[in-house]
Amino acid sequence: MSAKTLSVKTPAKTSDHEARESTAQRLLRSSLEHSYEPSLDIDWDAPLVDGAYGMSAHRVSLYGTELWDQLTEEQRITLSIHEVCSVARVGLWFEIILMQMLLRYAYDRDPRTQHIQYALTEIADECRHSTMFGKAIAHFGLPAYGPRKLLHRLGRLLPVVGYGPALYGSVLIVEEVLDRFQREAMADENVQPMIRMVNRIHVLEEARHVTFARQEVASGMPKLTKPELAYQRWLVALVGCQVTHTLINPRVYRSVGLDPHEAYHVAMTSPHYQASIRWAGERIMAFLSDAGLVGAPGMHLWRKSFLVAA
Ligand SMILES: [Fe+2]
Ligand SMILES: [Fe+2]
Repeated sequence: MSAKTLSVKTPAKTSDHEARESTAQRLLRSSLEHSYEPSLDIDWDAPLVDGAYGMSAHRVSLYGTELWDQLTEEQRITLSIHEVCSVARVGLWFEIILMQMLLRYAYDRDPRTQHIQYALTEIADECRHSTMFGKAIAHFGLPAYGPRKLLHRLGRLLPVVGYGPALYGSVLIVEEVLDRFQREAMADENVQPMIRMVNRIHVLEEARHVTFARQEVASGMPKLTKPELAYQRWLVALVGCQVTHTLINPRVYRSVGLDPHEAYHVAMTSPHYQASIRWAGERIMAFLSDAGLVGAPGMHLWRKSFLVAA
């Protein structure tokens, strides 16, 4: 497929620039009007509520399996808290990668533009989010789980090898998949109030990041050559697959006396869990597909990620 046949239209250079400037200007205004300082806006001294879940029960990785049926209510709550902390740590890990990518992006570009001023503002947002996730995990007194060692190391490479639509597409997968889970949990009265507030803050501020990243994908796609397009499709699929498999660290299962390896296998092969991931990724996958970023040679990775039906 040539760049000309991609579904995203090529804007004229000036109108593309103007469109990006006007979006950035709008996002900068919104950042001024609606931003949180989680260190102050969350009551970190408030006691945790007994019997509250860390995430919506039906989103816990083992829900719908025989292992879940064997757990007591207390164990289910414990597992949900370990899982939300695992997801928060992965979110934090990815935010640190994103901050590096945005810093590299801003390094070479004109700081007088609204566009770069917004990129810098987004770094400030993510910096506060990462602090907020760190504080939330510490508040529960749980381990900072995070991705397995090799992936943690490979994460250092993404800001170097990632660019263009695949870079922003990768960001969108993490932001939009987590966003869908967080929107649901913030409305769930069975979820710990502190977590609901963390989710509310994150959802509100991430909406701007999603707008920014979606525009970058749409703007970058028509500029790709054919070999670049293949590389970009492969890279975004690889990130999608790694992210969905790393949200839950197998060690969380030890908290309820389960074998990490066995329970992780049960979760990853659970049709319910796979459907949850697919549900969370519906919006972003539709967007990435329309943009032309989902396709060969990444399809087997997408199927493995659960984001696309096998
Ligand atoms: Fe964030
Ligand atoms: Fe973000």
